[in-house]
Amino acid sequence: MPTHARKLLIAANWKMYKTPDEAVAFTHTFIPLVGNCRHAEIVLCASPSLLPTVVEKARNNPIHVAAQDMHWLDQGAYTGETSPLMLKALGVSHVLIGHSERRQYFNETNTTVNLKLKSALAHGLVPIVCVGEHLAQREAGETGDVLRLQTAMALDGIDPAAAGPLVIAYEPVWAIGTGRTATPEIAEDAHKIIRAEIANALSPEVAASTRILYGGSVKPDNAGTLCCLEDIDGALVGGASLDANSFAQIVANSAG
Ligand code: PGA
Repeated sequence: MPTHARKLLIAANWKMYKTPDEAVAFTHTFIPLVGNCRHAEIVLCASPSLLPTVVEKARNNPIHVAAQDMHWLDQGAYTGETSPLMLKALGVSHVLIGHSERRQYFNETNTTVNLKLKSALAHGLVPIVCVGEHLAQREAGETGDVLRLQTAMALDGIDPAAAGPLVIAYEPVWAIGTGRTATPEIAEDAHKIIRAEIANALSPEVAASTRILYGGSVKPDNAGTLCCLEDIDGALVGGASLDANSFAQIVANSAG
């Protein structure tokens, strides 16, 4: 597979930041800066409270909108949750699943990740499934096992024919919000492990076409180096995506 045979995807993960007014201000600065972007798909992952505002601003612009999580059921007595039907009705097209902060603080497990992934695919939402090892696991030499297990369990029972939209994000937990980016070698190694596991769980064809993003302290000055690697098909950006100029610079630099 030649470099960049897959279209890059650059996603902003705003986490629990921004009010609607701040989101509007972001889009007013950001959209003119990326208006001519052809090399990458751009996604803004926003809190549920911001989704209607961001969807409205993204309309007729080269920007997609993602939720940061969802329940796997269409509806029910689950106070505080958001369903795939609600996201679709709002015009949301993508959804983050299994971010390490959800795994760490909100009881997300490989089993719920699998349920959410199946639901997202069934509802025509593009799933961005996050995997990644903790520092202690890396230091114990367990990274490969952790990534293989998280990927295999996420993909369990998925029909390869339905997996076309699948996106995976490799986010080493020790690199998230720490300023400690994975080296290109570490990232590329991890992406190869994940791609091999996709081939194993689904098919070599799905593995070859699935985009695998890198996330963890991506900044304007390292986005180009990371995104030009053969197995890295874009970035999931937290802190550096909150500022419109910084995120636009990441999008621009990802072209290499
Ligand atoms: P960071 O976050 O870019 O601030 O490290 C990445 C993420 O959590 O998706």
